[in-house]
Amino acid sequence: MGNDERRVAVVTGASRGIGLAIARQLAEDGFHVVLVARDEAKLQSAQAEIESKGGVAESRACDLSNSADVESLIEGVVSDRGRIDVLVNNAGINRDGLILRMSDEDFHDVLAVNLTAVFVACRASARPMMRGRWGRIINISSVTGLIGNPGQANYAAAKSGIIGLTKTLAKELGSKGITANVVAPGFIETDMTDAMSEEVLSEAAKRLPLRRLGQPEEIAHAVSYLASEGAGYVTGQVLTVDGGMVC
Ligand code: NAI
Repeated sequence: MGNDERRVAVVTGASRGIGLAIARQLAEDGFHVVLVARDEAKLQSAQAEIESKGGVAESRACDLSNSADVESLIEGVVSDRGRIDVLVNNAGINRDGLILRMSDEDFHDVLAVNLTAVFVACRASARPMMRGRWGRIINISSVTGLIGNPGQANYAAAKSGIIGLTKTLAKELGSKGITANVVAPGFIETDMTDAMSEEVLSEAAKRLPLRRLGQPEEIAHAVSYLASEGAGYVTGQVLTVDGGMVC
């Protein structure tokens, strides 16, 4: 593909962890990748790294907790690039606590980034994808959205919500050539899991069929598949990448 014909892939939370691995992979796959997160400096360095390997990328700083900013982000991409072909809603936060002690604020903050921003980005991307009669929406949920997890009522609610949202989009947008799928990671080694104790993580790893934590690149490969031409008949699915935790 020449530069001008490159399909445009927006990846949120691309400054580190799973999002950065997805951005690197999609750039390698030949997409023009739009890196989105809050930290401008980290985005610039991720962009520079992708470009140094021959990829095409740009950075857009955005606070996804603000719906209006999410809407403008997608509108900006479409007006500058003329298209959006792949949307990967990866950014996510947690504010853990048992239900009896969970504040309204902790519930709403997690819902805002992990679910409302996903909805707004999908809504804003749907029309331009319909115009191109091609699109791939890939939303990053979690095994917590499938089975729940003590201390994560807010996170689980958002991550389950992503699944219902995505299955609905698959049904509404399929006739326009747009697929919508979910990737549900298990324990993946990133800053998010660094916040957990070594002991908890190694105990968790021991209980997994594959006996190890996952790597961000292993999620990126799943996203790469769902974004590919070859995955054109796959929609409304939840691809669990979790070392066999939920099986
Ligand atoms: P991380 O904490 O390392 O990175 C999160 C990314 O989201 C960062 O780029 C951060 O800047 C961005 N972000 C957070 N709030 C934002 C906001 N308000 N506006 C813009 N950007 C924002 O997380 P990690 O581990 O890479 O997770 C990525 C996704 O995978 C998340 O949705 C997470 O819930 C999900 N996940 C992660 C698992 C893990 O074990 N690491 C397991 C299951 C799901």
